[in-house]
Amino acid sequence: MTKPIIAQKAPYPVEVEDGKTYFWCACGQSSKQPFCDGSHKDTGIAPVKYVATTSKRVFFCGCKHSDTAPLCDGSHGKL
Ligand code: FES
Repeated sequence: MTKPIIAQKAPYPVEVEDGKTYFWCACGQSSKQPFCDGSHKDTGIAPVKYVATTSKRVFFCGCKHSDTAPLCDGSHGKL
């Protein structure tokens, strides 16, 4: 498994919709950040599924090093 690349050292704020499913890019190579565009092919890294349980703004990790992925846990501040 290769290491993820840092898409950006900050989270992506996204207004998610209750009941909707999202696939967060874990490899950092997607051009549709913070979501998967299939670029992880051959990286050994898979996207992470996120199902919204309420409609609200969430902060998806952009650095790909969060311990609470797919959401930001502040780890980007230590990179
Ligand atoms: S953007 Fe990755 S932990 Fe905040």
